[in-house]
Amino acid sequence: MTLRLGVLISGRGSNLQALIDACEAPDYPASIALVVSNRSDAAGLDRAEQAGLKTTVVDHRDFGDAQAFAREIDTRLREANVQLVCLAGFMRIIANEFVDAWADRLINIHPSLLPAFPGLKVHERALAAGVRISGCTVHFVRPEVDSGPIILQSAVPVLPKDTPDTLAARILTKEHQCYPNAVRLIAEGRVKIDGDRTVIDDEKGYLTAADCP
Ligand code: GRF
Repeated sequence: MTLRLGVLISGRGSNLQALIDACEAPDYPASIALVVSNRSDAAGLDRAEQAGLKTTVVDHRDFGDAQAFAREIDTRLREANVQLVCLAGFMRIIANEFVDAWADRLINIHPSLLPAFPGLKVHERALAAGVRISGCTVHFVRPEVDSGPIILQSAVPVLPKDTPDTLAARILTKEHQCYPNAVRLIAEGRVKIDGDRTVIDDEKGYLTAADCP
């Protein structure tokens, strides 16, 4: 039995692709049960369809408020027997009642070393702050934006000539390793939440492998 994932996207879907590729390995302990997009033109939907995955569009504009939008997503995830929800470039703030309902079964990937630079314009702000190292974070989701117990992080150097685009691209390659590794750790039951942090049984060395630039 593999852990059934629901992946929520809004656009390009390169992290979705990383999860699709990981799930193709015979020993990977998770599979994608449903891809949900709030946009019907998301390129990630094509990736999902190419891979033969079940997809559904829940357009936020069809709902009166964020609660009703999140309730519909919740219904579709439950219909697909999803066990872990992965936000992968999902660009809508999701209602607190959804976050509470899926607490500890809802994860996100963010392109900075949280708690630094939550929110939008991440790379612009990292460059403006003059940080020498940035990276990505996979974390459990809590109601405050881009907060919650950290599962994995991976660091990259910030180079003198970096632009937001070059830094984003360097971090993205790390995202594509970190997200499948974090899902694997959860699916193998190696991640325990302890208050605001997680404790990881890292027998296979993902933490150290992911950590280095
Ligand atoms: C990634 O940088 C992710 O960290 C952020 O949104 C971007 C999504 O990219 N949350 P993609 O759609 O997975 O290519």
